[in-house]
Amino acid sequence: MFNQSANPRFSLQGGPEPDLRREFAQAVRLGLGGEAKELPCRYLYDARGSELFDEICLQPEYYPTRTEAAILKNISGDLLAHFATGPQLIELGSGSAEKTRTVIEALLARFGKGCFLPIDVSRSAIEASANSLLGDYPDLVIQGVALGYLEGLQQLERVPGVPRLILWLGSSIGNFHRPEAVEFLHTLGASMQAGDRLLVGFDLRKDAQRLEEAYDDAAGVTARFILNLLTRINRELGADFDLGQFQYRANYDSEIGRVEMWVESTMRQRVTLTGLNWTVDFEAGERIHMENSYKYSPEEISDLGTNAGLLPLQSWTDPADLFCEALFGLQGP
Ligand code: AVI
Repeated sequence: MFNQSANPRFSLQGGPEPDLRREFAQAVRLGLGGEAKELPCRYLYDARGSELFDEICLQPEYYPTRTEAAILKNISGDLLAHFATGPQLIELGSGSAEKTRTVIEALLARFGKGCFLPIDVSRSAIEASANSLLGDYPDLVIQGVALGYLEGLQQLERVPGVPRLILWLGSSIGNFHRPEAVEFLHTLGASMQAGDRLLVGFDLRKDAQRLEEAYDDAAGVTARFILNLLTRINRELGADFDLGQFQYRANYDSEIGRVEMWVESTMRQRVTLTGLNWTVDFEAGERIHMENSYKYSPEEISDLGTNAGLLPLQSWTDPADLFCEALFGLQGP
């Protein structure tokens, strides 16, 4: 694996991969112990879950990834035109940084050199993406931060006179409840200065059938991704969930504007979690709420920005209005 001492164009700060076991055990106890069962979606991403998510992104029904990539390809030049000085390019939850390549290319084309600052909890994801990007772009410097979004942003040193372009792609904002999304953007805004820009990828509201197919693909990859959380509980907390007795369900609530993802017990059953010294009972048809994916209208996007104290500056969609990239700056003088 690539390592920082081997390349002067790469540095990486932040901790080792965090050990989430204790936190996970507490979340499972809380989530399955309540009246309405639910589990936090961030635990979907163990090693197998991350692999399955990458596979979801390749499914024909899951349009967000390829649509966003196409939009970014078209707008990267316009995006960089917002800067007179080459910005630090920061990405929250950078992962493989595949879609970021077009922005990096536009940055290098306009300013000749560039600095990319990927922030991701996964140290190995930053190392792997840096390995590939540095090989392809000799004028790029990478300063990675292996931490959560906000912690990572706090670690970044501001270079006087150098603006920032912060990317938050993939409609990850959709996995936050709407008020949490406002709060999160507000916190991001507090780290920004005049001249900085924030680009956020939003999945747009659309017809229920298209959305339900995107979140319940014919090859069953999304179902495996969601059910994998039960496998993780079996492995890490010594549980005996029988995956044959739980089914994946996805439905779009068009009023709230969100896809809801559930697993449903096909029978009355008791699950034992030896690691927690605990049992959980399920009625036939009882569900665990695993994830929400909120969809936005153009008005909701600009209201969200305004309510978070940001200034909506420009937005771009694809020809079929499936997805939107929205650019924000700071409000007022
Ligand atoms: C990561 N996130 C933006 C995905 C989404 O579309 O909400 C997660 C996902 N869950 C099932 N399919 C995709």
